[in-house]
Amino acid sequence: MNDMAQHTQIRGLLASGEPMERALARGWVRTRRDSKGLSFVELCDGSSLAGLQVILDWDALGKEALADVSTGASIECEGALVESPGKGQRWELRASRVTVLGKCDPSYPLQKKRHTDEFLRGIAHLRPRANKYGAMFRLRSEAAHLIHGYFRDLGFFYVHTPIITGSDAEGAGELFRVSTPAAPGAGESAGQGDAFFGRPASLTVSGQLEAELLAMGLGRVYTFGPTFRAERSNTPRHAAEFWMVEPEAAFFDLEDDMALAEGLVRHVASGVLSSRAEDLGLFSRFVDAGLEGRLERLTGAPYHRVSYDEAVGILKKSGREFEYEPAIGADIQTEHERFLTESHFNGPVFVFDYPKGIKPFYMRLTDDGERVRAMDLLVPKVGELIGGSQREERPGPLLSRIGELGMDPSAYWWYLDTRRYGTVPHSGFGLGFERLLMLLTGVSNIRDVIPFPRTPGSLEF
Ligand code: 4AD
Ligand code: MG
Repeated sequence: MNDMAQHTQIRGLLASGEPMERALARGWVRTRRDSKGLSFVELCDGSSLAGLQVILDWDALGKEALADVSTGASIECEGALVESPGKGQRWELRASRVTVLGKCDPSYPLQKKRHTDEFLRGIAHLRPRANKYGAMFRLRSEAAHLIHGYFRDLGFFYVHTPIITGSDAEGAGELFRVSTPAAPGAGESAGQGDAFFGRPASLTVSGQLEAELLAMGLGRVYTFGPTFRAERSNTPRHAAEFWMVEPEAAFFDLEDDMALAEGLVRHVASGVLSSRAEDLGLFSRFVDAGLEGRLERLTGAPYHRVSYDEAVGILKKSGREFEYEPAIGADIQTEHERFLTESHFNGPVFVFDYPKGIKPFYMRLTDDGERVRAMDLLVPKVGELIGGSQREERPGPLLSRIGELGMDPSAYWWYLDTRRYGTVPHSGFGLGFERLLMLLTGVSNIRDVIPFPRTPGSLEF
């Protein structure tokens, strides 16, 4: 097992420049077709969308020995890699030996046919072997690497912020509580499960506050980790557990922040287009016919930027009948986001300078004291992809906002300290990683871009 050469993946064989006298392939049987004394097997090992065609000759291998080579079984085969006379593939493996590593029970639910997304969610333990999910999770991996590369090149340090916290960074009350089971014999008494930390604890809704502390020492940092929100709204764009990318940069103002966000989305979109074109092709063929055009817009012209007031003005003048009437001071709803990105701008758009009443406490007030220097990046089909802001670095206005919102300043003493000890202007944002994947693939349900989704009522696997 020390010889890594034995572990050639199928993608390596498919990319071979010349025939090979002896090649070894291992994987799962995607399909088997029998014809005229031969079995044609499509073998996949997850390394690429395309599988390897393996030819099994009944005379040479014995037909009985092939009985267990069925859809879903795992096999190892050895033979010559030769140019394929058939259509659709350059190479095929003429097996001189085949070993079944793991038989597949005939009840295997992943047969060669189009299954619905709902059905496949019910077998999430097996769906990584389905074409679409293999492609998705390879893209997910690539997008994560591209994100790390982008920040690394710009001098951002990757930091790890806590998952268990004692504060609600967004102040929206969507926390999951963390507690310990009651001690045996003890009755149910309020707050008993909080004894471990000596105070109520929850899963983080955002690493931002801690990222800000780190940015005050390291300058440019980012987090990329799991985030938890107990949002009761059961929508195709919300998960209870999702991954967020949160950069935080000292000396960045809101314009720098938007440029950083736009650069990130461009970098990832052009990166997957060049490195995972095969996987993306599946999504433009079978999932979303408009995908190619949308990806072009992500990497093309500069993204639009409009103030919140302008955006509301556009919505009011649109002549559309919205369920929620657009109004200054009210939040921009999903239907409004869709109109702006899909009908009006037909591409990504930043909306900035929101009324303070609909945004969290930490955003920097504008001079009129009514708006905050917030920005959201809205994109077609997904809506809000990114939410960010310039932070309130002045101790006075920050304390006033905390007071106005009825929050307890003593719970944020450490956050407030950074404003007393050498405060600097700084900015950051949060990008929902699953929403980015929805944008890149056209998949319309968040449950299909994460291997084992957690949503209300769903905790299997
Ligand atoms: O806009 P949000 O709530 O911003 C923050 O949490 C800030 N603290 C980020 C920061 O400035 N560091 O969330 C950021 C993004 C959203 O734009 C959305 O893409 C995603 O996180 N998001 C979710 N994704 C999936 N499921 C959910 N329940 C989500 N809630 C937010
Ligand atoms: Mg937001």
